[in-house]
Amino acid sequence: MSKRTPLIAGNWKMNKTATEGVELVKEIAAAVGTESSVNVLLCPPFTALSAVSAAVEGTHLGLGAQNMHDKASGAFTGEISASMLRDLYVTHVILGHSERRSLFGENDAFINRKVLAALSASLKPILCVGELLSEREANQTMEVVRRQIEQGLAGVPAAKAESLVIAYEPVWAIGTGKTATPAMAQEVHAFIRKLLAQQFGAESASRILILYGGSMKPDNADALLAEQDIDGGLIGGASLEAKSFVDLVQIAAKSLRD
Ligand code: PGA
Repeated sequence: MSKRTPLIAGNWKMNKTATEGVELVKEIAAAVGTESSVNVLLCPPFTALSAVSAAVEGTHLGLGAQNMHDKASGAFTGEISASMLRDLYVTHVILGHSERRSLFGENDAFINRKVLAALSASLKPILCVGELLSEREANQTMEVVRRQIEQGLAGVPAAKAESLVIAYEPVWAIGTGKTATPAMAQEVHAFIRKLLAQQFGAESASRILILYGGSMKPDNADALLAEQDIDGGLIGGASLEAKSFVDLVQIAAKSLRD
């Protein structure tokens, strides 16, 4: 891992009521509440954001959301705007997760509008990219990732580049127990950093966090986080229990010292 401060982000997906979320936060905070060498982010469902926001106050834990709409307000039944998230002290928002892309039909153009809207509202987007198994097997991984990065980040002003976080999540590894090998992940992370350098310059690109996501667990995190361009993790399944999530934070802290 590089000198970038690692980020371990928990994506709770459609799990945890507000009450359950607060319980989980208490357990996590008790174990890592003051660990400051790693940034830790919790991304609960919308309905738990308010309660979790109150529960993380005074701890080192940050708050993210899992999605938002690109418009500021209006007739968009069921949607949430950037300013609604900001009002709850949310700092980050996951955008373009593969579940949003595949189950809810989000395309690169829509995701790009959300990225721009998040940045204008001073929210940090966590832009998710990654190939399907069929695309990897057809040797299209780099092409797919290039399209998702270039289209997802179109029009992002260079001055805002360092507010971006990218998550490389090979779709075939999400929730499947299969992980990319550290070498496979590093190859794509290095490619993403090259694309970021082309768009924003090498200096800014060297400061942008690129997280790995896809069945990251305490038993494989060490090797993944040892790679040069892997700056942390976007964690689904293993973020739902305090023990595995806290272990991941501690592994990231240790990888900084190694
Ligand atoms: P997983 O999910 O850790 O359960 O594979 C990661 C994600 O979808 O962000």
